[in-house]
Amino acid sequence: MKLLECTDIRKSYGLIKRSEALKGVSLSLERGQCLAVVGPNGAGKTTLLRILGGVIATFQGNLKVRGNIGYCSETTSNYPYLTGYENLNFFGEVSGSSTEVTEVLRKVRLDNDRKLVFQYSKGMKRKLEIARSLILDADIVIMDEPFDGLDPIISKDIANILVRLKEEGKGIILTSHDLYRIQDVADEVYFMSNGKFSRHETLTNFLRLKVGFQDKARNGIDLSFLGRRLLFQNRDVAYLSLENTDQISDLVEEMMRNGVKIKSVGLEPLEDLFMEIFNEQT
Ligand SMILES: Nc1ncnc2c1ncn2[C@@H]1O[C@H](COP(=O)(O)OP(=O)(O)OP(=O)(O)O)[C@@H](O)[C@H]1O
Ligand SMILES: [Mg+2]
Repeated sequence: MKLLECTDIRKSYGLIKRSEALKGVSLSLERGQCLAVVGPNGAGKTTLLRILGGVIATFQGNLKVRGNIGYCSETTSNYPYLTGYENLNFFGEVSGSSTEVTEVLRKVRLDNDRKLVFQYSKGMKRKLEIARSLILDADIVIMDEPFDGLDPIISKDIANILVRLKEEGKGIILTSHDLYRIQDVADEVYFMSNGKFSRHETLTNFLRLKVGFQDKARNGIDLSFLGRRLLFQNRDVAYLSLENTDQISDLVEEMMRNGVKIKSVGLEPLEDLFMEIFNEQT
């Protein structure tokens, strides 16, 4: 069942000198799915997310939503002089939600904090935004740049929270310039430039691990134990297929157990594809 579906969304800004920020975009979101919208600055990503999240109400096109939406703002939409608990309690009460506040705070790992929101770090504010959509028991969580400006630990923490939400059957739409984090959470990537989607890919179609070897074996290193996961190999490198980035350490361990001496491990495919798509157009 589709949680959200939009077709031919168009949006122009300005009254006199109209500029078209979105020129007809369509996407659909299912339960348990995460869609990432990527693209250069000014492509129209935020405009699209604000339309999908109900923040912008004037646009052309068709938008169908089944369920309620939690729109997580990039900064914070919570009250600065209340604690996280008080904010969530308030939003819970006004929306008539029966979701347990302490349970939600535990889920986003803010349960041990008694600080006021204005004393929160950027990462904590981002987590409280997610918590708010959990309080509303939103079926669809929309996040603009959730990983922007966060240290790797908090950023991974937020990625893990989003993966858990998917497992609970929620749908997520996000934008990000962090192509590595996208690989951790997204199932599908929409490439946007100049107000349009130029490409749409399922992530597993291009998630590849490039492994460089220390020894240049004349007949190639025996990697038959990898089975179908081995996509390509020559004397220096091999390309392996991956379902998600969590599998990398297991794969590396397995190769080391089988006597393969590894020199380097790299994961660049999304970046490669990004460059390929957007360089073509400049
Ligand atoms: N409130 C506004 N009034 C007028 N023009 C706007 C407004 N908001 C966005 N735009 C224009 O719409 C276009 C798309 O902007 P948008 O913020 O959606 O891009 P983006 O892909 O989110 O960029 P970034 O990666 O920098 O966040 C840009 O040309 C921008 O100048
Ligand atoms: Mg933006």
